[in-house]
Amino acid sequence: MSFFDEKQPAAILKHAIINQYIDPFVGKTGRYSLDNRVAVIDGYAGEGRYDSGDEASPALLIRKAHELRRINRTLESYFVESDPKPRAKLQQVIANEGQGLPVQLFAGSIEDHLENLLTLVKGIPLLAFLDPFGLMIPFETTANIFAQRPIQPPATELLINFNASGLRRMAGLLTSTKENRGRESSLARMDASCGGSWWQQVWLDHGDDRDAAEEAVVAGYAERLADSQRCGWWTTPVRNRASHKPVYHLVFLTRHADGFSEFGEALSRGLSRWREALHKDENADTLFGDEAAFKLSEQALAEGWVNEIERNLRRLLAEGKPFKIYSRYAEVYGGVAGQARETHLRAAWKRLYPDVTKTDSKGDLIKKVIEPA
Ligand SMILES: C[S@@+](CC[C@H](N)C(=O)[O-])C[C@H]1O[C@@H](n2cnc3c(N)ncnc32)[C@H](O)[C@@H]1O
Repeated sequence: MSFFDEKQPAAILKHAIINQYIDPFVGKTGRYSLDNRVAVIDGYAGEGRYDSGDEASPALLIRKAHELRRINRTLESYFVESDPKPRAKLQQVIANEGQGLPVQLFAGSIEDHLENLLTLVKGIPLLAFLDPFGLMIPFETTANIFAQRPIQPPATELLINFNASGLRRMAGLLTSTKENRGRESSLARMDASCGGSWWQQVWLDHGDDRDAAEEAVVAGYAERLADSQRCGWWTTPVRNRASHKPVYHLVFLTRHADGFSEFGEALSRGLSRWREALHKDENADTLFGDEAAFKLSEQALAEGWVNEIERNLRRLLAEGKPFKIYSRYAEVYGGVAGQARETHLRAAWKRLYPDVTKTDSKGDLIKKVIEPA
């Protein structure tokens, strides 16, 4: 079975997040950009569509480009695919679905095309999506996407697939006592992707807690990219089942507060779409998958998120000072950041108005200053 036969839940989550995020990204950044142009580089593009007919990232982006024309945005897609077979299929998808759109397909490796692509998208907002099966391109090459675009606007954002099974395999080499002739070169490739050997010590420092080690390495990677470029970042594990180990982690970087909060919204909605897909999959044999039970479990999740946000807001307001939600985002959302979204924040806030806060819960809450009562 090949990757593109049928969409796995991990890909459902990845595409659901992109599907949610593209609209606000293109809508907002394209409002004042040159000719309302916005670019997406899909550096590891793949086949375009699955054999099942489901959208892979290129078909998704092409659909979005058609839809976004209605609000006068020109979404330009730059696809790179190194393997001739998927590239031929992608060519067909572009021919069938991309008529009249600014779509370009490049043959070969993203590393060889990146310089030229960055010239093509100079001066317009950019989201670069780097989605390899295996190791990422070298850290410096990735950081260079930002370095070549030092000023904002135009926006520069990155969405990276950090391969988790690859990381676990490499980390296994650190503690293995077996003879492995490729050990040094494998570790060197991982060092190059991560921007140094720091990840080895981070992994070893976590002892037997491998899940925590994995999260710490991914967070360390995102932090290192972000620190060098003054970015906000999100990471999220992507799994095929809630109980499985992650297949990969998505790492998102943005220089803009709106990018950060809109990605949080997209993540929350993407996860809800993923849970729904898992539920359908697990109930595929039953005639009427238990919709009511699914809805109840979603409601219970949401209730738990609202309760946690309420507790966090109460604690922060008890400090006695007004604060902007965005500047204390991590403390407001706490352990449910990335799962909950603004609607849950609003529900928690409503419970506190007017007794605990004198600020009502209307409008754009992320940018709002909340004041104790
Ligand atoms: C995970 S798949 C892409 C999935 C696609 N982005 C999506 O979300 O539907 C990775 C693709 O990258 C291609 N690829 C691998 N190395 C590459 C490279 N260095 N440059 C460009 N494409 C590459 C592979 O042939 C494969 O089709």
